[in-house]
Amino acid sequence: MSIRPERVELKTPAQIAVMRRSGKLLHEVHEMLAAAIRPGITTNQLDTLAHDMIRDAGATPNFLGYQGYPATLCISVNEVVVHGIPDDRPLQDGDVVSIDGGLIIDGWHSDAARPHIVGAPRSVSDQELVRITQEALWAGIAALASAQRVGEIGAAIEDFVAEAAGDSLSHLEGFGGHGIGTAMHQAPDVMNYRTRSRGPRVRSGLCLAIEPMLIQGPGNWELEDDDWTVRATAGGRAAHAEHSVAVTDQGLLVLTEGDGGAAELARRGITAAPDPLAGPGAPRAGE
Ligand code: MF3
Ligand code: CO
Repeated sequence: MSIRPERVELKTPAQIAVMRRSGKLLHEVHEMLAAAIRPGITTNQLDTLAHDMIRDAGATPNFLGYQGYPATLCISVNEVVVHGIPDDRPLQDGDVVSIDGGLIIDGWHSDAARPHIVGAPRSVSDQELVRITQEALWAGIAALASAQRVGEIGAAIEDFVAEAAGDSLSHLEGFGGHGIGTAMHQAPDVMNYRTRSRGPRVRSGLCLAIEPMLIQGPGNWELEDDDWTVRATAGGRAAHAEHSVAVTDQGLLVLTEGDGGAAELARRGITAAPDPLAGPGAPRAGE
């Protein structure tokens, strides 16, 4: 994406605790959507479910109205890579559907995306697309845990995808992740592949949205006439996965994961930061 000359906004532990509340609610929205997605449901119905859940929790959807964006979610079906606008077409068995959403609590933004297969998978290659996209996200997150520079995230994602998929999957070029905090999109850019920039130094308080976007076959794409929808044009399907992540003195906290990333990071030999919402004095379920 564009060069972002702004300074990186570093967050205090208290601010990261609010970002965790924002991310935790977004995780719950994604859990609700994962339970609701099925053949026959329309993407507009999913959008309404997310909108109402965010509003009922006292939070604000951050995509809605962003540069004129007309919905709460981006829902990208099959050949659509990202920024698909919800509509009234029912989802079909075997569709590959990436749902991207975000919200604001007390001024602090979260942003996360999950790829799904609706009903029965159409092919092993669709299952691999979704699995490798999710694993590529975790490869990027794991790299951040020990990175000196933000550019190491993209290098790790590129290497993981090359190893897992060879040339059967392509990155969506020209799009990437971003800093997140008091705005949804902040410095720095977080690319999904190597670039000439090493990026800014990784330090405590850095909060990033990491978001690999992968396409089956060649990575050709076009922007549709609605000025949002990014569609792969060489025949393949696409998937997108995203988490918002905080770097703290005590390690990484995956703000938009239910357990703060503890389980997935442990699989990669990394200890997650303690969850500020699970600490002593934090409200627990059933109390
Ligand atoms: N998660 C996406 C991003 O970071 C979606 C934002 S586009 C919006 O680019 F307009 F829908 F907000
Ligand atoms: Co994002």
